[in-house]
Amino acid sequence: MKTVLVSGGAGYIGSHVTVELIQSGYDVVVADNFSNCDRTCFNGVEKILDRKLPLEEIDFCDSKAADRLFATHKIDAVIHFAAFKAVGESVADPLKYYGNNLESFVNVIGAARKHGCSNILFSSSATVYGETDKLPVTEQSERQPATSPYGNTKQICEDILRDCVKAYEGIHGIALRYFNPIGAHPSALIGELPRGVPANLVPYITQTAIGKRECLSIFGNDYPTPDGTCLRDYIDIVDLARAHVAAVTRMVDSKMKADYEIFNVGTGKPVSVMELVTTFEKVNNLKLNYRIAPRRAVDVTAIWADTAVANSELGWKATRTLEETLASAWAWEKRLAGKE
Ligand code: WQD
Repeated sequence: MKTVLVSGGAGYIGSHVTVELIQSGYDVVVADNFSNCDRTCFNGVEKILDRKLPLEEIDFCDSKAADRLFATHKIDAVIHFAAFKAVGESVADPLKYYGNNLESFVNVIGAARKHGCSNILFSSSATVYGETDKLPVTEQSERQPATSPYGNTKQICEDILRDCVKAYEGIHGIALRYFNPIGAHPSALIGELPRGVPANLVPYITQTAIGKRECLSIFGNDYPTPDGTCLRDYIDIVDLARAHVAAVTRMVDSKMKADYEIFNVGTGKPVSVMELVTTFEKVNNLKLNYRIAPRRAVDVTAIWADTAVANSELGWKATRTLEETLASAWAWEKRLAGKE
């Protein structure tokens, strides 16, 4: 049985990937420093799987700890999520982002290489494409200069992985460029658990609907789009998690066609903020309190994926509908509030 290390595995995406990996027959070691999540998600993972999982509390900026982790467990592949991810915060505190996101990834690759783990999967982001009017974006679309230090750390980490694969014999790398992950596990036992005021749209919507937030601000309705609000490619978290299983399997089964590969992980369908809000209201049979607010800096007008390569090469396709995903997000929020 192959073992996958999931760094940042107690977080929103990491916890859902852990569930799918185990249910696909992998062994998983979860490592997290709990700087951006608490054990709620991890406890939920164990409830879904009905088993205890090895959990290493570790900060990957500590290279000795990273080394010890790979020396303790025989790791066949590592999926690296451990990073800070708040766009706005990265603009206010770039050093925190460059320090943490780059050093942790360098330490993971160094420890993996030293201990014979040759498969590295990096959690990248569509943010690397920046503002573009050539849509949908393919993996060959040009990366634009990052609009935030967060986005820049994603671009730099892709380059670190690409260069390490080129330089070091036997290391393989895949970068998954996610679009906008949303929703929660159908069990409502795990989901997104942002600390403080959510920066992302869907958790802000669900917290407004549950009464934790007064009113959703829709950042701008004067964009050159059909209804004036921004377009995004919202990918269901379970679909996203399954793309990771497909990518890890491609690596450990030596099915890669190059030592470094990139895949867009999205639905290929653009959805506007307003469409998402009205779909959320309809599928959950509620009225959301929202207002139109000024545009938010660093927002791009539109971005969505050409998913042909991921569909054909990974044999993966997003399957959950926007309605199902928004219903799952609401079920999770209600459970958090003890209403379910
Ligand atoms: C989506 C749309 C906002 C909040 C970022 C990162 C990406 C990924 C997801 C990190 C935009 C609008 C939002 C609100 C709003 N990883 N919005 N009111 O900015 O597309 O992507 O988060 O988490 O790498 O770049 O996601 O959910 O913040 O915004 O109107 O209260 O919703 O303007 O158009 P974004 P988002």
